[in-house]
Amino acid sequence: MATRSARPWWRDAVTYQIYIRSFADSNGDGKGDIGGIRSRLEYLKKLGVDAIWITPWYPSPQKDHGYDVADYMNIEPDYGSLDDAELMIKEAHQQGIRVIIDLVPNHSSDQHSWFKEAINSAPGSRERDRYIFRDGKGEHGEIPPNNWQAIFGGSAWQRVIENDGKPGQWYLHLFAVEQPDFNWDNPEVNEYFEKTLRFWLDKGVDGFRIDVAHGMVKAPGLPDVLEKDSATPEMLAAQQMPFWDQEGVHEIYRKWRKILDSYPGNRMAVAEAWVSPASRIALYLRPDELANSFNFDFLTSLWDVHELKRNIDLSLKAIKEVGAPASWVFNNHDVVRSVDRFALGLQPGRGETTFDRHGDVTKLDLELGIRRARAGALLMLALPGGAYIYQGEELGLPEVRDIPEDRLEDPRWLMSNRTDKGRDGCRVPIPWNNDPNSAFGFSTNIDIGTQGSWLPQPSWWGNFAVSAQEGNESSTLELYRKALGIRAHESGLGDGEMEWLDLGEKVLAFKRAGNFACIINFGDPFTLPAGEVLLSSVEFSGDQLPSDCGVWMRLK
Ligand code: GLC
Repeated sequence: MATRSARPWWRDAVTYQIYIRSFADSNGDGKGDIGGIRSRLEYLKKLGVDAIWITPWYPSPQKDHGYDVADYMNIEPDYGSLDDAELMIKEAHQQGIRVIIDLVPNHSSDQHSWFKEAINSAPGSRERDRYIFRDGKGEHGEIPPNNWQAIFGGSAWQRVIENDGKPGQWYLHLFAVEQPDFNWDNPEVNEYFEKTLRFWLDKGVDGFRIDVAHGMVKAPGLPDVLEKDSATPEMLAAQQMPFWDQEGVHEIYRKWRKILDSYPGNRMAVAEAWVSPASRIALYLRPDELANSFNFDFLTSLWDVHELKRNIDLSLKAIKEVGAPASWVFNNHDVVRSVDRFALGLQPGRGETTFDRHGDVTKLDLELGIRRARAGALLMLALPGGAYIYQGEELGLPEVRDIPEDRLEDPRWLMSNRTDKGRDGCRVPIPWNNDPNSAFGFSTNIDIGTQGSWLPQPSWWGNFAVSAQEGNESSTLELYRKALGIRAHESGLGDGEMEWLDLGEKVLAFKRAGNFACIINFGDPFTLPAGEVLLSSVEFSGDQLPSDCGVWMRLK
C-alpha cells in the first residue's frame, strides 16, 4: 500500500460534519452561516480534522433545513453569498482543510423553478417529465398511483390542482410534500446535475456528500411495495424496496466519477447510501464509482462487542474486494446522538430515526453514555480507513430530549401526526462558551439568549461548551485533539491492514502497523498486555483497563 502522503486524501481523512444552521452565527440572526464557519476554521484546524462536510447551503424554503433546494448553483441568503462561499473554501484550504459540500439529487424543493414550471404545465409536458408525475387510480384518479409511503410519514404522493382548477395528477415525494423527486430517466435532469457538479468543482470544492444516494432511480413501472413492507419505510430498509438501491444509480456515479477525475487534486464523493449488507455498499465504491460511503451498519450498531466486531469484519471484507477505504461514522444530523444511544443501550432500529427517542429516560445514564462515546471515538479513529465526526461529537454532546413541541422544526414531527419528534434533538446550536446571553457563544448577538437561536438550547448546555473543555486535559474535546494528533503522525493509522488480537470475549482489540494497538473493554477490568499506553479514553493508573474504556498502546 502506498504511503499516506502518496495515496488520495480521502482514503484516510477524518471529516467533520458541519450542520451549517447550528454551527456558528456570525450575523446575529440566530441561524448559523458561512461567516460563522469562517470564524471557526482555526478551531477546526486545532481539532486536527482533514476535511469539513457542510450540509446544504443553497437557497431553500428550509422545509427540511436545506435538503429542499430551490437553486443548486447559489447560496442561501441567510447563510451568505457565493463570494462568501468562495472565500470560505479558500480560507479552509489555507488551513489545510478540504471542503465537501452536500448535493441533493433525489429531490428538489417545490420552489425550484423547474417544479413551479411543472405544476403550471400540462400532464405529459416536458416540464412535468423532470419530476415523477402520474395519473391516480380509481374512477376519478383519486387514489395515489401506488402504495409508497413517505419516509417522514403519510403517502409519498401529492395530488395537484391542474390549470382548469380541478384535481389532477399526482407527484412523488419520498420525503416531505415540499420535496418532489426528480425523474432520473430524463437526460435533462442528468445534465443539470453534471453542470452543478462542475459549477462547484470550479469553485474549488474537494468533494460532495451525495444525499439519499441510493434513492434516485426507481424500479421501472413504479410497482407497489409488498403489503408486508408497506408501513412507513426506513432509510436502511432490510427488504428490497422499489425506490432504494436500484442498479441504475451506479450508471449515474460512473458518469460523475469521470467528471470528478477530470479535475486535479483527487476530488471525491461520499454516498449517503443507507444500504445493507456491506456487500451492497461496496457496489457504490467500485473503482469507477464513488470514493466513500458512510458505514451505517456501524452507526446503527449497539454498544455491543460482538455486533461491532461482526460489522467491522463484514465491512472490511466487502470493501477490500473493490479496493475501497472504510468510512466509519457514529453520528450525523439524522440520528440520536451516540452518547444517548450508548447510555440507553437501546436496540436501534435499522432506520435513521427509529432509535427510541422517548425510551425509558429514567434509565438514561449520561455519564455512562459519554464514557462509552469516548471509548467509541478511540475505536473509530483507529480502524482502517477514514472517519466522519458530527459537530458536537468532539464535545460529548448529548441529545436534547425536551425541546418544547411548539419549537420543533423537523418535518417528521408534523408528517408523523406528532408521533415522532424527529431529529431536532441532535441539531441544537453548538455551545462555544458559557454565556447564555449569546446562546452560549453560538451567536454574535449578545442578547439572543438561549431561546433566541432557531432551536432553543437547554440551560445546562454551557457545561459542554468548548470554553469549558479547552485546556482541561480530561475533557472530551482534549481527548479528540490528542487522538487526532496521534493519528496524524502514526503512519500505521488510517487506511491499511489491521489484525484482531484475542484479549477475551468482552474485548475488542486490534493491531495496526508499528506495533500500535487499540483496545476497547466492554466487560470487567482486565490486565493490559505489556507496552506503553499512548492515550486512554478514561484516566486510570496501573495496568488494569477499566470497563467501557479504550486505549491506544504501543505494544512491547
Ligand atoms: C438525507 C438527509 C436528511 C434529509 C433527507 C432528505 O437523509 O441526511 O437530513 O431529511 O435526506 O433530503
